[in-house]
Amino acid sequence: MPTTAPDAQPAPRPFFTPPERQAERQPERQAERQAERQAAPQPERPTGPRPERETVVRHPVAAEPTLEAVEAAASSAPPASPDAILIRRTMAEIEPVADKVTSYFYALLFVQHPDLRALFPASMDTQRDRLFKALLTAAKHVDDADILTEYLSHLGRGHRKYGTMPDHYPAVGECLLSALSRYATSSWSKETEEAWVRAYTAISQIMIDAAAENEAVAPAWWQAEIVSHELRTPDIAVVTVRPDQPYPFLAGQYTSLETPWWPRVWRHYSFASAPRSDGLLSFHVKAVPAGWVSNAMVHRARPGDVIRLGAPSGSMTVDHATRNGLLCVGGGTGIAPIKALVEDVAQHGIRRPVDVFYGARSDHDLYDIDTMLRLEQEHPWLSVRPVVANGPTGRGGASSVTGQLPDAVRQYGPFREYDAYLSGPPGLIRSGVDALVGVGIPADRIRHDSIEELVSAGD
Ligand SMILES: Cc1cc2nc3c(=O)[nH]c(=O)nc-3n(C[C@H](O)[C@H](O)[C@H](O)COP(=O)(O)OP(=O)(O)OC[C@H]3O[C@@H](n4cnc5c(N)ncnc54)[C@H](O)[C@@H]3O)c2cc1C
Ligand code: HEM
Repeated sequence: MPTTAPDAQPAPRPFFTPPERQAERQPERQAERQAERQAAPQPERPTGPRPERETVVRHPVAAEPTLEAVEAAASSAPPASPDAILIRRTMAEIEPVADKVTSYFYALLFVQHPDLRALFPASMDTQRDRLFKALLTAAKHVDDADILTEYLSHLGRGHRKYGTMPDHYPAVGECLLSALSRYATSSWSKETEEAWVRAYTAISQIMIDAAAENEAVAPAWWQAEIVSHELRTPDIAVVTVRPDQPYPFLAGQYTSLETPWWPRVWRHYSFASAPRSDGLLSFHVKAVPAGWVSNAMVHRARPGDVIRLGAPSGSMTVDHATRNGLLCVGGGTGIAPIKALVEDVAQHGIRRPVDVFYGARSDHDLYDIDTMLRLEQEHPWLSVRPVVANGPTGRGGASSVTGQLPDAVRQYGPFREYDAYLSGPPGLIRSGVDALVGVGIPADRIRHDSIEELVSAGD
């Protein structure tokens, strides 16, 4: 919960574009865009269910921009605009007190707009800084139009599940500016304020437009009934759900998930299968100590319970335009999306070598080894190597290795004609990228989920 009480009530700042005007433009825009969509040729879908609606899923090569990508793009950006310079000054000043600014921002938001409190989870400890951080990063890179538009459009669509409405944006903007002006006292001026207003207006407009456009093609969330719940170890469950309407996604992606026991607490989970003809979705969930959602999913959820799912996300998907092999490294429940990728390659019907390294702390933690070995038997192009840190392993068969995943990958390289896929805790992603580059895979052919997201999920 916010800790810094707002001691003064700043005058409302009537400088943001009234949302009514923004909203009014939406029906026209939606109609235009729907017409464009209908006129566009429909691509043939690969095998699997035929969803009634098409979700916007980018080709993996055009990776979904994360905050990391937005940051990285800044280094190659042309000289900053006057607004960007003013905004960066504010950022430099507030950086050392970012925690205080965040607390003040939320305190102000909830005091001045108590109705908005209901949109947020009861406890905001874990992710409190993410909204604020994204706002600041987006404002800082307000000159990088393309990457910002893609990042913010994705964010805007994702906000539909929170119940965010266009007229909430000015409230957040006013509180953001009040918090900044209170803490960036040296660099704040009329010009700075005007630069922030322009930046925030542009940011929110992109998010509002993307959400409005998405309304025509996808629900804000899906209800999904749990149809099976299988405890594989004392703290890992394989949970299968039936969404209330078709759920289009690609193998290797993840969703956000909310349980009925912790309303408005959303966490990410990877799909553990490629799209199935029966439309069911599976997840591998590991209960982490004191974890809200993971413990509910592993220890409380039962068949018949209904959870909510947000839209699919992530760019760790198979590039079917290349014949390169796939080197897949999955640690713990990180094997879930890797299994989905293997199924995707199998469904696609083109033989490409797929080498899977499946890591776990102990033999006992290889909870999905039987499935992976069965897949290996079915497909001659697939090799599965279990890697157990505290070996030896009896379950993994002759090909098992004792040691750490990155060392095992190095031992079996080089893998020059391969694309790489990495999934697991952030520590594994970092050491895994080094190992993969070391065995001959260029960094731009290594895919993994956002380290920033994973770090905020815990190591
Ligand atoms: C892209 C993506 C995909 C993911 N896919 C999966 C998946 O397929 N299966 C899966 O089980 N999880 C997955 N996660 C992690 C998941 O989103 C949650 O973070 C995790 O389940 C913990 O949530 P929680 O609500 O139970 O814990 P929280 O209430 O968020 O955390 C409670 C405490 O536990 C710590 N913590 C969080 N995670 C861990 C951990 N792994 N080990 C030790 N301590 C931890 C936190 O820092 C915090 O102190 C994924 C995360 C991301 C970003
Ligand atoms: C214009 C700027 C905004 C930006 C850049 C922004 C950014 C973010 C980010 C990065 C997150 C983290 C989770 C995610 O990725 O979905 C988030 C969560 C959230 N945002 Fe926003 N947001 C903005 C505006 C708003 C507005 C106007 C509202 C409505 C009041 C809102 C409500 C929420 C809620 C309820 C959450 C979930 C919080 C949680 O899970 O703890 N956001 N936002």
